[in-house]
Amino acid sequence: MDIKILPLPAEKMKQKIADETKLSFGKQFTDRMLLVEWKTDRGWFDARIQPYAPFVLDPSAMVFHYAQEIFEGLKAYKWADGRVALFRPEMNARRFNQSGERLCMPAVPEDLFLGGLQQLLSLEKDWVPSAPETSLYIRPAMIAVEPVLGVNPSNHYYFFIILSPVGAYYAAGFNPVSILVEDHYVRAVPGGTGEAKTGGNYASSLKAALEAKKKGYDQVLWLDGREQRFIEEVGSMNMFFAYGNKIVTAALNGSILSGITRDSILTLALSLGYEVEERPIEIHDLMTDIRSGKVTEAFGSGTAAVVTPVGKLCFKDEVVQLSGGKVGKLTQELYDTLTGIQTGKRKDEFGWVKFVE
Ligand code: COI
Repeated sequence: MDIKILPLPAEKMKQKIADETKLSFGKQFTDRMLLVEWKTDRGWFDARIQPYAPFVLDPSAMVFHYAQEIFEGLKAYKWADGRVALFRPEMNARRFNQSGERLCMPAVPEDLFLGGLQQLLSLEKDWVPSAPETSLYIRPAMIAVEPVLGVNPSNHYYFFIILSPVGAYYAAGFNPVSILVEDHYVRAVPGGTGEAKTGGNYASSLKAALEAKKKGYDQVLWLDGREQRFIEEVGSMNMFFAYGNKIVTAALNGSILSGITRDSILTLALSLGYEVEERPIEIHDLMTDIRSGKVTEAFGSGTAAVVTPVGKLCFKDEVVQLSGGKVGKLTQELYDTLTGIQTGKRKDEFGWVKFVE
């Protein structure tokens, strides 16, 4: 599909942040965005790269009422030689369509998703920051815009991509976070939408996150929605626990997000000589193993969160420390290896990196 490039008037051009080390997460956006529409009787049409601008939507647009929405998250990195690299973008294109299938939304052809992203990035390359721990966060999304209040799949969608120069997701940067195991609210149930990257999953997580913050925790760790016995995910990251040389993470069970960073960590850990295990993780067993010192480190993984060390975990008023509240050796090694590949400092043995042309 041809993508029209609309002019960017000088008055729509934004000021870039002068000090990249001050970048926070997702508060500033670049000059341009990609927008493509889909209608039941037309399929995909009107692909355009246009100045970043608000949407004018009917108040009855379905997304406002029934949350028919999906999104993705990936990053572009500025390499020392000036090239701009993407990390496994085809995985995001694939997962986007899996989420869309669950939400009854039309599939975005992979060449439109990836080709549109390439064209947008080649115009917005100058926005990719190069300071350590910075990148250009890429947010593809799709929303239902048909102005109808009946509960049905929409007949009209916007697929769009916006870009945001970012620093670390957690304000503390690469430092241990504290996590509260949530034993009241649940995020997802078998057969629900937990595996899809859809806004509703995040909206329903806000209350628990807020209550955890009030108690001094950065995030909540969700338990399964049926028995509240097994560990699921943190919401912005999948969780890993190190048992010496073995790394354990919750098995994908349909209600956990199938993280691309999660998958990369499992592959990297194996290649570095660690054992990996994907299995149900029972919370009481985990607490026993942390108390006895069998669990030596814990960390989360995600596009935004990268590899985030966990220094403290609280379950039902029992607080336990991990790696003495410091960044563990294995966590550091995986962080260095992953970010090394993403930023061109380490060899990409797995063919994960794709350059912006
Ligand atoms: C990502 O890591 O890209 C995500 O989508 C998590 C988001 C909630 C910041």
